[in-house]
Amino acid sequence: MTLIVRGARILGGSAADLTIEDGTITAIGTASASADATVVDADGLVALPGLVDLHTHLREPGFEQSETVATGVRAAAAGGFTAVFAMANTRPVADTVAVVEQVAELGRRAGLAYVQPIGAVTVGLAGERLADLGMMARSAARVRVFSDDGHCVHDAQLMRRALEYVAPFDGVIAQHAQEPTLTVGAQMHESALSGELGLAGWPAVAESAIVARDVLLAEATGGRLHVCHVSTGETVEVLRWAKARGIRVTAEVTPHHLVLTEQEVRGYDARFKVNPPLRAASDVDALRAALADGTIDVVATDHAPHPVEAKQAAWADAAMGMVGLETALAVVQEAMVDTGLLDWEGVARVLSTTPARIGRLATQGQGIVVGAPAHLALLDPSGATSIETHHLHGTSTNSPFLGRSLPGRVVHTIYDGRPTVSDGVVA
Ligand code: DOR
Repeated sequence: MTLIVRGARILGGSAADLTIEDGTITAIGTASASADATVVDADGLVALPGLVDLHTHLREPGFEQSETVATGVRAAAAGGFTAVFAMANTRPVADTVAVVEQVAELGRRAGLAYVQPIGAVTVGLAGERLADLGMMARSAARVRVFSDDGHCVHDAQLMRRALEYVAPFDGVIAQHAQEPTLTVGAQMHESALSGELGLAGWPAVAESAIVARDVLLAEATGGRLHVCHVSTGETVEVLRWAKARGIRVTAEVTPHHLVLTEQEVRGYDARFKVNPPLRAASDVDALRAALADGTIDVVATDHAPHPVEAKQAAWADAAMGMVGLETALAVVQEAMVDTGLLDWEGVARVLSTTPARIGRLATQGQGIVVGAPAHLALLDPSGATSIETHHLHGTSTNSPFLGRSLPGRVVHTIYDGRPTVSDGVVA
């Protein structure tokens, strides 16, 4: 099958046609359409390599009322993603070969994006015993990223062992950095505002203290550490120090932490309840600067679907998390591109090339070059869209951006040489 993508601005630069044959980019330049070629009109659109999300909750098996692999990859495709790493906090937990292979198979069947399972670090996410990381790595699911996300690997000895264990097969431990003893009952960022609102605070040091410990463990073991959803300026300082020392650490920031602050909590609308919590405006500034200068390596959505009843609850009882696959690119455009902090090449780096590299996913994130697999997101950066539920393609609608206007629009997504989104419509 031949596909011609006509007139796209490659990484926001000059316009060219992309010829795609049997899933591979075979030419970049001016294409003369052969009779049997399918043509995608991309005149004026920005072509990015297919986006890769290192942190997606697909909820299957076990929580299908929130999301399934099939619905989650529809949301992913709509957002320009061609690969997602599926978090391990399913039921049963993805701590065995059977579960990671099941998730990978569900992804293959859904067919709209590559689904790479993440394995749990500890059995049942209980933080007591290491899961069989080696078996999951050697399985057909080829797991390289391990995480207890939702829970911190709190025991320092276990964390040390996990970092040591995954080093020989080039795995990475993705830590949910939250000192549990500092966040018992915590409901929002700890600040003057949490006092005013009467909600138990979640101090910034609960995150940075764990990251400080873990970068030192990574140094001591030579293992590879990835820090999930960095939310504070203090953590950025720790990462900057660790990277300057040559420690093998990478980090992600979510779209929501790049634009939303604790002020959203004033309305007690549980769509804004998330772990880690929305922080202060000064943290947002520090996170943007860190993403721009490479201290934070990638943007990852932490797409966390929850059913209506879990969110239409009193603040204290509501579930934590927000969906984010469809809006991620628009939020990054607003926070980073429209502010001049990143160009589209930078966006390709933080949303495609680097997440694929951190997760050791060889078939994605290779950029837009001849010979690369044809995974593309084609975006119209002009204009703005008011986000409504019909823009969300997953099972749950707990987006903090509903009713809010965001710039840009994903027009087409191409996965493995096939359109998964055409003119904004998911295949
Ligand atoms: O808000 C969150 N929700 N943060 C996490 O770390 C876990 C996630 C979930 O699974 O709902």
